[in-house]
Amino acid sequence: TAEERDGTLPHATAKSMADHLEKYTNLFTLSPQRMRMIVDAFEETLDKGLQEWEQVIPMFPTWVFGTPKGTESGDYLALDLGGTNLRVCLVSLLGGCKFEITQTKYRLTEEQKQEDGCKLFDFCAECIKEFIDTHLPNVTHDNPIVIGFTFSYPCLQERIDHGILIRWTKGFGAPNVEGHDVGEMFKESLKKFNVPAVMTALLNDTTGALIASQYVRPKTKIAVILGTGCNAAYSEDIKSIGKLKDKNLDPDDVVAINCEWGAFDSDFHQHLPRTKYDIHIDEHSNKPGEQAFEKMISGRYLGEIFRLVIMELVDEGAMFLGQNTYKLEAPYSLDTAFLSLMESDPTDELLTIIGIFNHFYGLETTLAERQFFRALARLIGRRAARLAACGIAAIVRKKGYLEEGCEVGADGSLYNKYPGFAQRIHQGLVDVLGAKGKNITTYHAEDGSGAGAAIIAAMTKARKDAGKY
Ligand code: GLC
Repeated sequence: TAEERDGTLPHATAKSMADHLEKYTNLFTLSPQRMRMIVDAFEETLDKGLQEWEQVIPMFPTWVFGTPKGTESGDYLALDLGGTNLRVCLVSLLGGCKFEITQTKYRLTEEQKQEDGCKLFDFCAECIKEFIDTHLPNVTHDNPIVIGFTFSYPCLQERIDHGILIRWTKGFGAPNVEGHDVGEMFKESLKKFNVPAVMTALLNDTTGALIASQYVRPKTKIAVILGTGCNAAYSEDIKSIGKLKDKNLDPDDVVAINCEWGAFDSDFHQHLPRTKYDIHIDEHSNKPGEQAFEKMISGRYLGEIFRLVIMELVDEGAMFLGQNTYKLEAPYSLDTAFLSLMESDPTDELLTIIGIFNHFYGLETTLAERQFFRALARLIGRRAARLAACGIAAIVRKKGYLEEGCEVGADGSLYNKYPGFAQRIHQGLVDVLGAKGKNITTYHAEDGSGAGAAIIAAMTKARKDAGKY
């Protein structure tokens, strides 16, 4: 064991681990004062995005007007192309704020994320065809089913079933999609495979989460996704959106805004305290210089930040001397789920952490190292949650929700599975907003990419029927 070897090899002592920890604590800790500075800049950037096109936080109007009534009903398909999986869902909206979902999930391979965009949409169309063949015998070309398509990447929309992909995020890189209308590309694929379905609404997962949450909890004002990516949507008054002033819209209406806040600070890197690990991740990503905020927060990157710190210590000779670290040297070989596991290890000996390093990397660890790993996971997880709190606080302040309070629907693997993530967000909100920050509460949002897509398709139909498009 590592303990036995300690007599013969240089090793990481409890003392040196504590010294290292102090250094990383300084690097990864966000003081309330620092957070307030971030929130000030964030709020200003959100507003710029509302007033002018092509800003760093783009604040896309989604063409989803008003809020759901809760009475929307009918059967819809939802196609969910997120960061990790592809899902096809049959959503039955039952009215009375209730719905049921039947779904099939497909894991997306790394190759699929990088191969030609037409192939990606063809795959989506094939999955839908298979789903209809299996579950929906009554759906035919004379009786097609309506699809809401949740496409969770930044899209500039001119209408609800349209969206030009501005840039891929979350590691996707499929060529021939950026700059194209993904709504149109998907419709072409449906046609090619002769699928008896009509896509009427294209939406972001955050917009879906907002609307699905409002369907069951009308007091919800904001939705955030904290998963592979990180982003938020909220309801905004049309009259506050300067860049829509020529569009002849009802000034008294509201529209959902997909912020795409993951891009915050990507222009001049003035506001976020990026460490050299954050900068390394950015420079070695397929999209250097983009999504600065998201790269410090989301599940796609947290494990990699952790791995880079460990590799630095390995290079300094501070740990794993005499052991072969080649498995740990592979970029992205340490999943963010491991950080969750490390943080929630209940044993004094930190047996889960022993298991992770042993099983996945063939490495033996000392107790002092394991305690350090857990503390490091905490620092990285805590920083992510506190940054997310800065984004939420910026919307809250901008909208003046502090006095009356508001509910925030939140979804995604970090929010749902990372231990203590929600509490850390709440603590962050109080640190930034003071005691009234307690008026801002988060809860597990409804399935936005499934139910939300269906509700938006239903709202779109109602609007069309009322002659509003
Ligand atoms: C990325 C995408 C954004 C999405 C978020 C969460 O930030 O750009 O559209 O909402 O991930 O999935």
